[in-house]
Amino acid sequence: MRIAIDGPAASGKTSVGRTLAQQFGCRFIETGNMYRAVALAMARGLPLDAMTIDITEDERLLLNGEDVTGLLHTPELDQRSSEVATRPDVRTRLVALQREMAGRRDVVMEGRDIGTVVLPDADVKIFLRASSDIRARRRAGERGDHDLAGTIEQLRSRDERDSTRAIAPLNPASDATIIDTDQKTLAEVISAAADLVKEHLNERWHGV
Ligand code: DC
Repeated sequence: MRIAIDGPAASGKTSVGRTLAQQFGCRFIETGNMYRAVALAMARGLPLDAMTIDITEDERLLLNGEDVTGLLHTPELDQRSSEVATRPDVRTRLVALQREMAGRRDVVMEGRDIGTVVLPDADVKIFLRASSDIRARRRAGERGDHDLAGTIEQLRSRDERDSTRAIAPLNPASDATIIDTDQKTLAEVISAAADLVKEHLNERWHGV
């Protein structure tokens, strides 16, 4: 089974995806971390063809064998990853790697283009929506950041770049179910997403 979750930054993809993966016995893959790792490697002066990126079953990201998981979620890499994600050579390389990972076992994969490009034939496609104000509050809370105006501005510039780039811009797939999260608790969003997976499993069981 392949479950695709897409949505803008801080829309709840990781919390929802990780819980679904546990609930349905899938591997969880955060593709944003792969773009973050490429941005980190480039900042270190490494060319794309000299990078190897692996994600372990327990979600550690290995860059040329080094565990860089703890270095990926910084405001600087938020912006740099969004910039490197506009490059066709980076996307071609990472999409191929993501498809290979999804071929190995059941996955919940989250990102920006999973339902549209990486796994267009995913069994369940979910797109999470949330207003920028709410996303900025969530992100500032997660990072213990008190500059809400600055966080809103950073999300705004990343949203703009991620949704207007020429290749694989952030967009719901035509067959994705959109979950609007603004008026829902995290538990309600998880429950709505889990219902979609159960519906799929029921249909598969009954051969619909
Ligand atoms: O999900 P995230 O915030 O960790 O992603 C970091 C950046 O990587 C995001 O701003 C855009 C890019 N990205 C992408 O272009 N495609 C994906 N499937 C995942 C992330």
